[in-house]
Amino acid sequence: MKVTAKAPANIAFIKYWGRKDEKLRLPVNDSISMNLSEIYTLTTVEFLPNLKSDEIEIVGEKISEEGKARIIAHLERIRQLAKIKTFAKVKTKNNFPKGTGLASSASGFAALTLAGTLAGGLKLSLKQLSILARQGSGSACRSIPDGFVEWKAGNSSETSYAYSLYPPEWWDIRDIIAIVGETSKKVSSSEGHVLAESSPFYQPRILGMKKKLQDLKRTLKIKDFEKFGEIVEAEAINMHAVMMTSQPPLFYWLPKTVEIILKVGDWREVGIPVYFTIDAGPNVHLICLKKDEKEIVKRLKKLKIKKIIVNQPTKGARIISKHLF
Ligand code: PMV
Repeated sequence: MKVTAKAPANIAFIKYWGRKDEKLRLPVNDSISMNLSEIYTLTTVEFLPNLKSDEIEIVGEKISEEGKARIIAHLERIRQLAKIKTFAKVKTKNNFPKGTGLASSASGFAALTLAGTLAGGLKLSLKQLSILARQGSGSACRSIPDGFVEWKAGNSSETSYAYSLYPPEWWDIRDIIAIVGETSKKVSSSEGHVLAESSPFYQPRILGMKKKLQDLKRTLKIKDFEKFGEIVEAEAINMHAVMMTSQPPLFYWLPKTVEIILKVGDWREVGIPVYFTIDAGPNVHLICLKKDEKEIVKRLKKLKIKKIIVNQPTKGARIISKHLF
């Protein structure tokens, strides 16, 4: 059977940085994210008896050997679960603007997990899908459930999965992504996780996590945007402090990243409630309420930002009827 899935990228409000089990991709702490409406991956999978090996194509991109090996390892997990030996044809398409350094592993492995399991004849629960997606790329497990999502770190593969805290309609906030440049990332996030614990700020980060998670969940529940934004912003700075002080240090920011960070502070001073967060790259995610979206986009344009993507909360991975082959 040929199956096509669509899965969103997600932005973490409380980040996953550091693992307690490399192989199973078990994170050190729980994390919380929101699925993004405008950046996603489409993936079609079909297991075909005549194939001699897996055939993988990412539209418009040359896949690295490492990337290919990760996808094949994931297909292997699906084959084992489905008890099949057939190779698969996989075609995948990211709608992310090219050369922007936006990560595609979360949406990519979420889409591959959903399309691949159904194509292999499996009907997994959301929890099982999330567990499986996690093994392809940690943050992919958060692109399976809808809306606002929490990934429970767990202490085994079976207990480390994401679930929906609230549907997308819960809170009409925006994530305005300011694309500031290309990341030819020297160190991928996958490798970065390993370096986290070499930072002297790593233990303090982990010690403060429980309270931070509780506080963020409370602000999400009562929709206290100001408190929510403060926690999200401080958390991003905290993670980047760990990155910058690991050995070797990881600097993902560009001059333009810092320029926007400083502007966000200025804009708050003139009464616009906007907060930033940043993943393992230079692009800045500006979190705001719907009512302030237009004003912030206008201000970003004045800063000559290359590309701006306005996201709202959205559903998790879905099956769609239009195939890529
Ligand atoms: O899933 P990975 O290995 O790409 O790691 C994601 C790491 C961050 O984006 C920096 C944080 C997060 O929780 O998404």
